[in-house]
Amino acid sequence: MRHNKSKATLLVIVMLAISSSCDSLPLERTIRDSLKGSKPYFTSPQKMSRRFIAEPAGKGVTARFHCHADGNPTPRINWLKNHQEMDASNIRIDKVRIKKWSLILEDLLPSDSGLYTCIVGNQYGSINATYELEVIARVIKIPRLQSGLPKNQTAYIGDSVTFRCQVQSRDSLAPHIQWLKHTSTSNNDVGDAFSLLQREWPKHPEWNCVAMTRNLFEKSPFICIAPETDIGQPPIDPEKLRLTNVTFEDAAEYTCLAGNAIGIARRSAWLTVKRPPGNILFTHPNFMKL
Ligand SMILES: *[C@@H]1O[C@H](CO)[C@@H](O)[C@H](O)[C@H]1NC(C)=O
Ligand SMILES: *[C@@H]1O[C@H](CO)[C@@H](O)[C@H](O)[C@H]1NC(C)=O
Ligand SMILES: *[C@@H]1O[C@H](CO)[C@@H](O)[C@H](O)[C@H]1NC(C)=O
Repeated sequence: MRHNKSKATLLVIVMLAISSSCDSLPLERTIRDSLKGSKPYFTSPQKMSRRFIAEPAGKGVTARFHCHADGNPTPRINWLKNHQEMDASNIRIDKVRIKKWSLILEDLLPSDSGLYTCIVGNQYGSINATYELEVIARVIKIPRLQSGLPKNQTAYIGDSVTFRCQVQSRDSLAPHIQWLKHTSTSNNDVGDAFSLLQREWPKHPEWNCVAMTRNLFEKSPFICIAPETDIGQPPIDPEKLRLTNVTFEDAAEYTCLAGNAIGIARRSAWLTVKRPPGNILFTHPNFMKL
């Protein structure tokens, strides 16, 4: 027994001697690695040379950090943000993907800025690399709408009317324009609804107008007017709202809403609908039939 134990000790000493003297010989390192395993090492240091990355914020803008590594046994990789484990408190889980040896952040926001560290380790040791990401916010302003538009209008039954609004300074981010028809005449209801919109809509770029009113209001104080989409017609100018063959039903307040990622602007006007004057009702053949 005693004899065996000292033999084992001797073997370990020999192996330690080999391991400390042969670091520069790849073949021996390979043999040694297969015998006793090895600490991880980065396999693509050239992909890791840029450690400071600056990107603009935006949808479709992506940052990738590479930590390709190997070792024996194959090491495990773990990522930290600002020296903390990554979880819902410090990253946007749905925008972060871990793809084997890379970390990918999508649709960058300024809050994604920080230090990202990969730690690659096995039982023989661990190595790490830290990247610094700075996401620069684009200067985006809330859209501005030309004052005085849209204008109040008065029309007779059967007329066509066009309301127009005008986005003043088009920033890099073109606002989405939506026309609304008010169904409530209570200024309080409408005011409250717009406050809620102002807060919530920019957070949900995926909502269209119908989804927005359905999600935000139990009883919406306005309805969304779908843009005209006649096939074969030139695309309708979103700054215009055209109402054809108006009836008393169309008499209402209309709002032009311009929204982008940070807020909304709105301006509204009234349509007043009148019965055609005088005896036209009695001379027009169509009306005579009534
Ligand atoms: C990263 O590696 C350095 C140098 O080996 C070490 O001092 C540091 O503690 C490591 N950091 C982490 C988070 O493992
Ligand atoms: C538009 O009509 C509304 C409702 O009749 C009225 O309160 C408002 O003052 C009018 N605006 C202008 C610019 O005439
Ligand atoms: C206008 O509306 C009336 C009543 O709904 C309808 O009878 C008429 O055909 C419409 N005219 C046009 C040009 O659409």
